[in-house]
Amino acid sequence: MAEIVVTGGNALAGNVSVLGAKNAVLKQQVAALLAPGKHMLENVPHIADVELMSEVLSFVGATCELEDHTLVIDVPDDITPEAPLDLVRQMRASILVLGPLLARCGQVRVALPGGDDLGARPIDMHIEGLRQLGVDFELRHGVLEGHVADGLVGAEVHLDFPSVGATENILLAAVLARGETVIENAAREPELEDLAVFLNAMGANISGAGTSTIRVLGVPTLNAATHRVVPDRIEAGTYAVAAAITAGEVVVSGCVPDHLRMELRKLQDAGCRVEAGEDWVRVLGPKRPNAVNFATLPFPGFATDLHPQVVALLAVADGTSVITENVYEARFKYIGELARLGADISTDWQHAVIRGVPFLSGCPVMAPDIRAGAALILAALRAEGYSTISAAEHVDRGYEGFVDKLAALGADIEYHA
Ligand code: EPU
Repeated sequence: MAEIVVTGGNALAGNVSVLGAKNAVLKQQVAALLAPGKHMLENVPHIADVELMSEVLSFVGATCELEDHTLVIDVPDDITPEAPLDLVRQMRASILVLGPLLARCGQVRVALPGGDDLGARPIDMHIEGLRQLGVDFELRHGVLEGHVADGLVGAEVHLDFPSVGATENILLAAVLARGETVIENAAREPELEDLAVFLNAMGANISGAGTSTIRVLGVPTLNAATHRVVPDRIEAGTYAVAAAITAGEVVVSGCVPDHLRMELRKLQDAGCRVEAGEDWVRVLGPKRPNAVNFATLPFPGFATDLHPQVVALLAVADGTSVITENVYEARFKYIGELARLGADISTDWQHAVIRGVPFLSGCPVMAPDIRAGAALILAALRAEGYSTISAAEHVDRGYEGFVDKLAALGADIEYHA
């Protein structure tokens, strides 16, 4: 297990830049499967999840090469419509091959992912949406088998909840379906909008991405394309919180502050000074944050993927904060680790009550997932003395050079592989 060692107390200062969004790249990797040829994605981070998705594509028959943040994806004419359990278990986003493989091959075999550290995470809305486009599904021995008898046909799909993955899987199939597909109550996340930009560059006809109603006019074929991936708002937000929690002053560049409107407002409420330009944001942290309440919601609500980091900040607030997690049923698993550092937090179902304490004190903790891992590192930056964060490989899944970037801002932090 990789370990990160932090000695807290340094106020971070300087400039840090962010790369393309993990949750955009992964979907664009699978989208490339829709058209044979050489695709090029720019601004791609070197992170473990991009490598894992490259393995999924390699299983399908495509190759991915990442050099200098440019990912070249070479998709052959013939591909294998399958994703095995060991890859799906390592990364749930693998199930996004369903849409493209059904569209390209008319059939698919993908291992059904189980639950993970964030909860049961079913994929019923993915399956139901694809069914409406003409797919027959059967679950056999833990493998989801899909067949399309007579080509995908556009349909009107109403989602119960604006699921990011379900919207994407349906979109990825609809681009090659006959006729028009309308997705109502679609997810509006910037990464989804960016997927539509890439698909349109491939020749798709999608309008309304970024709103609750997406319209897709199916086209017979798509072509390979080049695209620059949208900046990672969660990476940017994590560095903004790093500035806030250490009472530092950090400029985060290469980001889109407009994608973090809600979260930056909450940082201001917590006492941060926030200035933003078109592609940068400067955050000046207060000596001690104010208590702030927030509730996670699909975009443009407060991002669930920044919830643990902001809870780490509120752990040292002057006052009591109440937060509500509306996206995941089990996102609070990291609270126990934060308590080891001295945080005073109680949870009840979807709610957490955070009674701010003046000091945290360093100790060994374990990262349960990507974002909670980042949050524990941020808490350790504020804590007195020395902390070790084990299972640090979780953080490598989503952040390129997290430790190096924090060290360049003045953190006392080391990575032990
Ligand atoms: N859900 C269902 N049924 C479905 C689909 C989703 O019940 O068919 C539920 C999920 O169980 C969850 C909620 O709906 O409770 C939201 O799930 P959603 O489908 O919106 O999320 P996702 O596509 O599985 C992506 C990101 C997550 C991010 C969420 C929400 C990727 C690869 N993952 O997941 O990112 O938290 O959207 O914004 O894009 C991360 O980066 O650390 C991460 C977990």
